[in-house]
Amino acid sequence: MSDSFDFIVIGGGPGGYVCAIRAAQLGFKTACIESRSTLGGTCLNVGCIPSKSLLNLSENFSKAKNNFSSVGIETGNVTLNLEKMMKAKEKSVMLLTKGIEFLFKKNKISYIRGKASIKSNKEVIVDQGNSQKVYKANNIIISTGSEPTSLPGIKIDEKNIVSSTGALSFNKVPKELVIIGGGYIGLEMGSVWKRLGSNVTVVEFLDQIVPGMDKDISTEFLKILKKQGINFKLNSKVTGVSLVKEKAIIDITSNETKIRERIQADKVLVAVGRKSNTKGLNLEKMDIMCDSLGKIKVDKNFRTSVKNIYAIGDVIEGPMLAHKAEEEGIAVAEIIAGQSGHVNYNTIPGVIYTSPEVASIGNTEQKLIEKNIKYKIGKFPFAANSRAKVINETEGFVKILADKNTDKVLGVHMIGPHVGDMIAEMALAMEFGASSEDVARTCHAHPTYSEAIKEAALAVDKRPIHS
Ligand code: NAI
Repeated sequence: MSDSFDFIVIGGGPGGYVCAIRAAQLGFKTACIESRSTLGGTCLNVGCIPSKSLLNLSENFSKAKNNFSSVGIETGNVTLNLEKMMKAKEKSVMLLTKGIEFLFKKNKISYIRGKASIKSNKEVIVDQGNSQKVYKANNIIISTGSEPTSLPGIKIDEKNIVSSTGALSFNKVPKELVIIGGGYIGLEMGSVWKRLGSNVTVVEFLDQIVPGMDKDISTEFLKILKKQGINFKLNSKVTGVSLVKEKAIIDITSNETKIRERIQADKVLVAVGRKSNTKGLNLEKMDIMCDSLGKIKVDKNFRTSVKNIYAIGDVIEGPMLAHKAEEEGIAVAEIIAGQSGHVNYNTIPGVIYTSPEVASIGNTEQKLIEKNIKYKIGKFPFAANSRAKVINETEGFVKILADKNTDKVLGVHMIGPHVGDMIAEMALAMEFGASSEDVARTCHAHPTYSEAIKEAALAVDKRPIHS
């Protein structure tokens, strides 16, 4: 393998591997360095993909156990084989990580295994355990992602006190599972283990789950999750977790009443956010500037404070989402190639893959109020959508926010069946600067869940047909 490249991408997650592929497509001689034994980063190995596999499998289990017989599907006694379920999850992960290796070969990208650190603005050292090698590059892209954070005094051991990584691989269903943090990870993993039989309690510091989400949606979401049997302690702070034999003791203080409480659990999942992973990259010596949160500072072209070195994905500002990192990976490769790559940060969707799913894009109603933008609202419930009714998935609604004067769509927030896929329609609409009238006049197939979007758009002008 050559040791000199046009592009060296450090990190083979969704940001890095997509950046490498786009750079190779653009004719650059490209290498991607990855320290994990497989490509795909957190997302494929211990994040989005295994969690979606378990979300799907646990939902099937729960439906077979609790819902099938009421619609005439008699299954007998449904039991869980957790070991087999975990193997199925691992197989999905393996197939996808191998898929990236195939894409690298197809695009003639050099895959370098090892831990990278930056030696100069044109050199990267790769540590491969018993040897080190220096590679040269005209452009270095840092895409090293993020890692879980914890709280002061709480040490994640991935056994009893786990991050999302440990929560994806329990070998037994915990009887009592306490989750610190009611965000994306807490609610997805809480759903998985609740369906598989755990008694789940989510402790959230703020007075709403998924802070930053449109309030209407998070209120509905909380109601639905409570109905599913997940316990919530909102406005509560975990002040400590200790281990007594194999049990975790969790100390909680109410922010409002200051009343203290102590609960026990078999496992504790710490899901209070993630931090940029820049350890060992040699950023300080290289004078690569970071902000107070440890995120690498970049300009609008993803350039760091050092010439020829760029950064994308979770190591820079913005939502820690795989698809945001992918867009940045493509944009930076195109910018370096002299093209006009760009990322529209106003149209990055966010999806929570619970049941029902939650999806949002653009401004929340609270953000519009804060920005003093006048708006109209159109809402439509899935209870009035024929497809949802037939499938008996009628919880949730679609909410469209449009500019009061121009009718331009400013934000869309949905909770309901398959909304994680449906949000793509509204991402496209917003990319094209659509008005709610444009969406309302677009023919949607019947009977589909997506008709709820059309109806919500009609409701912006107070003329929904089915409600
Ligand atoms: P998060 O930022 O989504 O949620 C963390 C939650 O913990 C917040 O609600 C916060 O208020 C709460 N919290 C913070 N300190 C606390 C304390 N002391 N006590 C109780 N609660 C406390 O972070 P999360 O869930 O760890 O996810 C990390 C990242 O991974 C996020 O940026 C998310 O976007 C991404 N992710 C995305 C997924 C998706 O796209 N479906 C799935 C999983 C993760």
